[in-house]
Amino acid sequence: MTSIAIVTGASSGLGAEVVRQLDAGAFGRLDQIWAVARSTERLQALADTCTTPVRTFALDLTDRSSFDVLEQALAEQPAARVVLLVNNAGFGTFGAFCDQPAGAAADMVRLLILAPVELTYRTLPYMQGGSRILNVASVASFVPQPGLATYSAAKRFVLDFSRALNEELGPVDIHVTALCPKFMHTGFLDHAVADDVAVGMSRLTGFEEVGRVARRGLAAARDGRALCIPSADMRAFYAASKLLPYPLVARLEQAFLSTVHQ
Ligand SMILES: NC(=O)c1ccc[n+]([C@@H]2O[C@H](COP(=O)([O-])OP(=O)(O)OC[C@H]3O[C@@H](n4cnc5c(N)ncnc54)[C@H](OP(=O)(O)O)[C@@H]3O)[C@@H](O)[C@H]2O)c1
Repeated sequence: MTSIAIVTGASSGLGAEVVRQLDAGAFGRLDQIWAVARSTERLQALADTCTTPVRTFALDLTDRSSFDVLEQALAEQPAARVVLLVNNAGFGTFGAFCDQPAGAAADMVRLLILAPVELTYRTLPYMQGGSRILNVASVASFVPQPGLATYSAAKRFVLDFSRALNEELGPVDIHVTALCPKFMHTGFLDHAVADDVAVGMSRLTGFEEVGRVARRGLAAARDGRALCIPSADMRAFYAASKLLPYPLVARLEQAFLSTVHQ
């Protein structure tokens, strides 16, 4: 058997940190780590730092043919067993929906929704009891977010999809974890447009440390937990979001953001 962990969005930020922690043994002994992202150079630079064999896949996950490449690679790998799939690749653009760059919203839907669905479907035949799926959602998934409408709705999909799938697959001991970080200092904010909205939101939630998020997420996946919200204040926000009516939450958020922008 060849035990494999597949990590998407592995070329930077949280995905690269997950690869480093896997290489350090966070998920036990792995025969291979498959690192997926578009940037060949950054993937190779990361692979060069690892002692576990890292196979790099320079793929654009908004392109459907990328999933054929990964599925084919699994089919060709003798006795492949996917012990961990981390659906992490993502980006988010902030600001009014009408002001989004052309194609950004549709690409977010492709990358944040379709890619985890496709990859999960195509890797499941290579999983067995004990395998785990870690889907990176966000605290933005807890309530609909004006100024982040497509991103927050897409991450809500990730949250709900993960939790439902965890119930379906739990009886065969395959567990799915939705990881909900708040802001982290990664490439994410470099790609986010409408910086004032992003800055306002980050002042509302604060930042957390990427290494800690990766550690918490991997531990939750190992333990087969359905939901991982690493920061305590966001766990409280999640609980409140289920109790308070949405119009009230939205008004409170808007009121806070308008004070930040003054
Ligand atoms: N940072 C935050 O504040 C924050 C908060 C909550 C949730 N998240 C989520 O955390 C996850 C990781 O983001 P990050 O914070 O680590 O940001 P990041 O440093 O920008 O990393 C994003 C990763 O996704 C890859 N990626 C982007 N578009 C892709 C595409 N079309 N095909 C394949 N790979 C693609 C990037 O690699 P290439 O550019 O090389 O393709 C990169 O490896 C995302 O799902 C994000 O939504 C981030």
